[in-house]
Amino acid sequence: MYRYDTYDQTLVDERVAQFKDQMDRYLAGRLGDEEFRPLRLQNGLYIQRHAPMLRIAIPYGMLSAVQLRAMAAISRRYDRSYGHFTTRQNLQLNWPKLEDVPAILAELAQVEMHAIQTSGNCIRNTTTDQFAGIAEDETVDPRPWCELIRQWSTLHPEFAYLPRKFKIAVTGASADRAAIQVHDIGIRLNRAGDGSVKATILAGGGLGRTPMVGDIVREDLDWQHLLTYLDAIVRVYNQWGRRDNKYKARIKILVKALGIEEFRRRVEEEWAHLKDGPETLTDSAVTKATSYFPEPERREVSAEAIEAYETLRRENRAFARFVTNNVVGHKVPGYKAVTLSLKRRELAPGDVTADQMDAVADLAEQYGFGELRVTHEQNLVLSDVPVDELEALWKALEALGMANPTVGTLADMICCPGGDFCSLANAKSIPIAQALQDRFEDLDFLYDLGPLDLNISGCMNACGHHHVGNIGILGVDKKGQEFYQVSLGGRSDDSATIGKILGPSFNAEDMPNVIDKVLQVYVEQRLEDEVFVDTYHRIGMKPFKERVYA
Ligand code: HEM
Ligand code: SF4
Repeated sequence: MYRYDTYDQTLVDERVAQFKDQMDRYLAGRLGDEEFRPLRLQNGLYIQRHAPMLRIAIPYGMLSAVQLRAMAAISRRYDRSYGHFTTRQNLQLNWPKLEDVPAILAELAQVEMHAIQTSGNCIRNTTTDQFAGIAEDETVDPRPWCELIRQWSTLHPEFAYLPRKFKIAVTGASADRAAIQVHDIGIRLNRAGDGSVKATILAGGGLGRTPMVGDIVREDLDWQHLLTYLDAIVRVYNQWGRRDNKYKARIKILVKALGIEEFRRRVEEEWAHLKDGPETLTDSAVTKATSYFPEPERREVSAEAIEAYETLRRENRAFARFVTNNVVGHKVPGYKAVTLSLKRRELAPGDVTADQMDAVADLAEQYGFGELRVTHEQNLVLSDVPVDELEALWKALEALGMANPTVGTLADMICCPGGDFCSLANAKSIPIAQALQDRFEDLDFLYDLGPLDLNISGCMNACGHHHVGNIGILGVDKKGQEFYQVSLGGRSDDSATIGKILGPSFNAEDMPNVIDKVLQVYVEQRLEDEVFVDTYHRIGMKPFKERVYA
């Protein structure tokens, strides 16, 4: 994991002191709301429905046990003893008091964390594959590259005030688990025949009001030019992106308006004078960034231990279910990556209590080299667990309520905070998630349905990724009443597609029945082993529409 050097620490400490002074002046009435607004947003502080909201950066979703424990202490002392993991691999506090925020930032700085650039029109947290560095299908470890992007983008003087927010996602694996096609910039890293790293760069994807899948701007870019090329794209966006209309300000609108050829031409023109300039990456810069992610000191896992684990899987049905759904393979034999489910009836998707954070931090130290990852599906991952420790870990997770063996199923839904917390919401989203979790809790039924992404957002901003849910649910407002629009067929993997709207919206009580009918059509029509989204794309919208609106 990246560690602060003295420059980083000084900078973050100075920012904390600066913000404390700004907050003091605001609370004393010497700064007005409008003057304070950009200052607080630069530090991740929103004013929300019931209270302020603080969004804390988790660079590329990587967190240490020490940091998680600090989060637990902060949430206990200054908030309501819980936190919310988001689809952008960050953590949000929903109930801090304004006057406490400087103290929270000071405590975060002690564990090399901050909230800088988690809001505002700048380059936000760069996200990546939760299995980065350990995935079996990975050709390039994206973490050092994410770190280089983080260093380049953090407090970049030219990109502090872009037309709109800007999000970058990176993958280095053959299966895209970072949703790179629906980000402002998506980066796919791969290796050339000689082993050198090359990048394919996409631009113009994004969700929100006008959802779009990104286009390829450049293929086979040599690694040395990664940052200069990103610089060229962001410069083109900064210069030509619309500032007159907030709803047309994202880079996707610019790419669409210009067409990808003209956009690419402008980027290449801009790049011509940046190429080989000071931001060109060198071997030593990459080696240094790579050194932040050393291989943990894994012990040898014996053949007998692996055999014992396989036997346990055969004999213990509950353990087998957990392994099948929540455990994935690892590049090192004898090791696995384990997803801790943050989807359970008692808490909103992605929420964790302070006690759970402490307990998870202990588990990470005991079983996973003190490291955790946040997934964009709002779960946590322990990425390095020896198979002979899986059973003990599973039991500990059961006790915590985080062993729900439902990862990747309908019950593993993504859900934004919606009308319960967010001031932009048109409708509540958490109660919909809970009603669906109640209705579809039978494990055999969930397994029979197979992999299925169900994503819920409380408004068209799409924080819950509803457009790319195989089933998407969007809260809409009709004359002051809450309704829900359903879309089908979205996906955020390699075949990223924006879902299509089923038809007129429904009220909250109807939602479990509506989803039930959609599932019935799938179960009746699917071919053997066909997953929901493939059945939908084969048979189209009509049969679903007919059943739901019959
Ligand atoms: C409660 C405070 C929040 C506010 C005020 C907020 C605001 C917004 C807005 C205005 C957009 C649309 C941007 C645009 O299209 O220009 C957006 C998009 C998004 N937000 Fe949030 N959001 C909040 C919470 C969250 C949470 C909790 C998550 C994750 C669970 C999240 C993740 C996202 C994502 C993934 C997008 C779509 C990405 C894209 O537009 O390309 N946000 N948010
Ligand atoms: S989708 Fe809308 S309701 Fe949900 S968090 Fe985003 S802005 Fe708020």
